[in-house]
Amino acid sequence: MKPTIAAFPATRLRRLRKSPAIRALVGQSVLTPGDFIWPIFVRDGEGVVEPVASMPGVNRLSVDKVVEAAREAHALGIPAICLFPYTDPAKKTEDCAEAWNPENLSNRATRAIKDAVPDLAVMTDVALDPYSSTGHDGFVVDGEIVNDETVEALVKQAMSQARAGADIIGPSDMMDGRIGAIRNELEREGFRNTLLLSYAAKYASAFYGPFRDAVGASGALKGDKTTYQMQPGNSDEAMRLVERDLCEGADMIMVKPGMPYLDICRRAKEMFGAPTFAYQVSGEYAMLAGAAERGWLDHDRVMLESLTAFKRAGCDGVLTYFAPAAAKLLNG
Ligand code: PBG
Repeated sequence: MKPTIAAFPATRLRRLRKSPAIRALVGQSVLTPGDFIWPIFVRDGEGVVEPVASMPGVNRLSVDKVVEAAREAHALGIPAICLFPYTDPAKKTEDCAEAWNPENLSNRATRAIKDAVPDLAVMTDVALDPYSSTGHDGFVVDGEIVNDETVEALVKQAMSQARAGADIIGPSDMMDGRIGAIRNELEREGFRNTLLLSYAAKYASAFYGPFRDAVGASGALKGDKTTYQMQPGNSDEAMRLVERDLCEGADMIMVKPGMPYLDICRRAKEMFGAPTFAYQVSGEYAMLAGAAERGWLDHDRVMLESLTAFKRAGCDGVLTYFAPAAAKLLNG
């Protein structure tokens, strides 16, 4: 449908902006706490709240503190949190066995949250990087990040998360075939209602830097992730990945990073109509929060503006470290 616009002065588009009341009436994109998934870094210990230097306002939390955060999230109307473990370097091995240990940090945190706040959805991360001595999301054999062997390990990891009670499993590894493999195994073991949110269009981005500090993976990483994560200039490839993952059994898909890739969000939403999420990643958070800390940007305004942009681009929700702060503001 082609919009028609009468000539000036029959049309004065400023009439639609003349007051808060009129602006409220014609507002299109609405942001609510129900749009957020809050990523949280989990570490060992008790009573620990440890700031992440490159992400002002973000902490690594011990499991008891994660449970407190989960209660807070629920009270604020945030529907889901997403767990990322900061793994003791001594537990990082070549075979990444800690990834499917039922007693690993992520699984312990999931059980503790589901015990304390059963209505809050718990999302977990499937990828080997927190557990790998190489810092890669998959196994490395003779310098190659091998696909099929990695997928077998990812299935074990995903199943241990499902057994711990995760509601949403988020494969962030970018191996081929992992969504189908995980979906098959979930069905086989009777986990019919476990959701898969595929990190379908995940780019090899420099905006992940602070996250790798937060989970202690930056020191370990040898080389880069360009043989599995996408190159930033590609858009058609993102559509093929999204379509493939939906066909393999993903319930929801994600574009990552967020702000520099809003065109991908829009295109994916228009093309497939599936629940579409963006990840406003650590580097995007650090840019905004770091500049705000220096007084260069207005923290609350850039936070809400950046999050509203995801809704405008067609996203159903967004993973954001701003979740609790934004929810507080939106709740007044
Ligand atoms: C790795 C993973 C990464 C993030 C989420 N899962 C980093 C990477 O791919 O190196 C990044 C999240 C962020 O930057 O906030 N499986």
